[in-house]
Amino acid sequence: MPDMDTHIPDAATEADAGAEPLPAEPLPILVAPHPLLKSRARPVTEADRATIAALIPRMFAAMYRAPGIGLAAPQVGHLLRLLVIDLMPDDKPAPMVIINPEILAASSELCEREEGCLSLPGQYAQVVRPARIKLRYLDRDYARREIEAEGLLGTCIQHEMDHLEGTIFVDHISSLKRNMIMRKLAKEQRLKK
Ligand code: NI
Repeated sequence: MPDMDTHIPDAATEADAGAEPLPAEPLPILVAPHPLLKSRARPVTEADRATIAALIPRMFAAMYRAPGIGLAAPQVGHLLRLLVIDLMPDDKPAPMVIINPEILAASSELCEREEGCLSLPGQYAQVVRPARIKLRYLDRDYARREIEAEGLLGTCIQHEMDHLEGTIFVDHISSLKRNMIMRKLAKEQRLKK
């Protein structure tokens, strides 16, 4: 997409001139079924610093535009273990960057919540997952962090982490319901064109 890349030098020039930087150009979000949404993502390394520094603002821009509360790098075509999340508590931005997440512990208690996904626009289903998780990850500065998450945050992190394994939320439901959703999505996508 050469058209999008041309905006990046502009943004840098604006920032250097002391003006407000231009907002990041949102990356297009892949829609299921797509082979990259079924692929496993690789860990982020030191060598990826520049790549992810450019990727993160464009992932947030795509997520806020959708709008959504979470997005994983494979959804924008990058097979890296990188997530962005913002639950917008009290309608205020609270962006979280999660790199190379690992679930250290998950509760045996489960919770069921309705999930949707920016890669399956307009589709929703009830999904059962552990109610609480303990998570280790690197933040956007590669600093190591550990948190416990439950409720919407816990669900959101687990949903986004699934994308790193090539799993989407409909993989957690019955094949009957999954096939219904995938057919409905395909039909709606055809009508949009
Ligand atoms: Ni998703």
